[in-house]
Amino acid sequence: MRILAIETSCDETAIAIVDAEGDENEARFRVLGNALLSQIDIHKEYGGVFPALAKREHAKNLVPILIAALEEAELLQEDTQEMPTETHDAVAKLLEREPGLDEATLEFLKETEPPEIDSIAVTAGPGLEPALWVGINFAKALALAWRKPIIAVNHMEGHIMAALAHGDERELVIAQTKLPVVALLVSGGHTELVLMRDWLSYELIGRTRDDAVGEAFDKVARMLELPYPGGPEISRRAEALRASAANNTAHTTPFKLPRPMLHEDSCDFSFAGLKTAVRNVLIAHGDLSEDDKGALAQEFENAVTDVLWKKTARALEQTDARTLAIGGGVSANTHLRRVFSERIAARHDQVTLAIPARALTTDNALMIALAAFYRARRNHTTEVAALFANGNLALAS
Ligand code: KG4
Ligand code: ZN
Repeated sequence: MRILAIETSCDETAIAIVDAEGDENEARFRVLGNALLSQIDIHKEYGGVFPALAKREHAKNLVPILIAALEEAELLQEDTQEMPTETHDAVAKLLEREPGLDEATLEFLKETEPPEIDSIAVTAGPGLEPALWVGINFAKALALAWRKPIIAVNHMEGHIMAALAHGDERELVIAQTKLPVVALLVSGGHTELVLMRDWLSYELIGRTRDDAVGEAFDKVARMLELPYPGGPEISRRAEALRASAANNTAHTTPFKLPRPMLHEDSCDFSFAGLKTAVRNVLIAHGDLSEDDKGALAQEFENAVTDVLWKKTARALEQTDARTLAIGGGVSANTHLRRVFSERIAARHDQVTLAIPARALTTDNALMIALAAFYRARRNHTTEVAALFANGNLALAS
């Protein structure tokens, strides 16, 4: 089955094309094309993702990204197409609220042969609704013009599948996954622990009561006057300090931050207090030196990792989980990856740790294609008229 997947839930415009085969015991994915354009440099100026700008950028980038993905997959065939007026009008209507994308799409459709694909997958949520809508309307337009079914994908399910996949940028396999899976989902918008007893069936076992962990990274970075997105920058500073501390046994960190809800008897999280604690340190100390910023970044990362670990360990103990999957942008974090790998090996040897390859940690369309295959196998296709963006789409409640 050949799937073309579209992702526009936040600040990445991405399209991937895969050939997928197999079943839930062993699914194989050949990556034919994988194109992605990050808007990070544009949003940097605002210190965060600005939804109206994200929407405009997606509208501008979708056709070029589609062409890049099709070209890479050797599926781009230029040829003048007859387009029935009915199709033309329907496509124009679907894209009337995406300035620029309507003309670009119509022009593209009139000049290219429909590619050999079986279905079109698109992220339906969660995410920024204006951004989601651009991808969804584009998917609808392609589905209509090419007469292909649409598969609506939950972005978080994509993050789980990316964690469970092994392989490289050309070939991915999801095989021998031991169920149940506990998934720790840590991104800019989400922090939750989800139990998957059977494929595609989810129970929420813990969630943040306020900020998402990626959001906390980004906000703390902003307080430290570090560039957006804050996660990678905090990680870089903290890792540099750990490396130098390893050569200097006298090293102690001058800051101590709380571990919110660590001892509370639940799998829920809270990160707003941690953010406030960082602010209080800054108020108490005035301007921090670069060394002190590094030390605070390190203590923040330690506090976050302690809490994430404790709650995840609790979730593993409460369930008979055989796999721990970590998904979402924060799963790129070096310290978190190291701590979880060591502790799973030392304390939970019945549990297999599944962490995404670094390229699959932050948002991409390949993860949407992986999840779409599982949905397509169960005939979970969506009617064009019934497909809409849901910024708060939940995996489980
Ligand atoms: O999954 P993702 O790309 O987008 C959402 O769906 O939200 O996650 C983005 C988040 C941002 O908050 C970013 O700061 C964080 O992931 N992030 C990191 C790292 N790389 C990205 N956080 C900590 N350490 C990192 N290395
Ligand atoms: Zn994400």
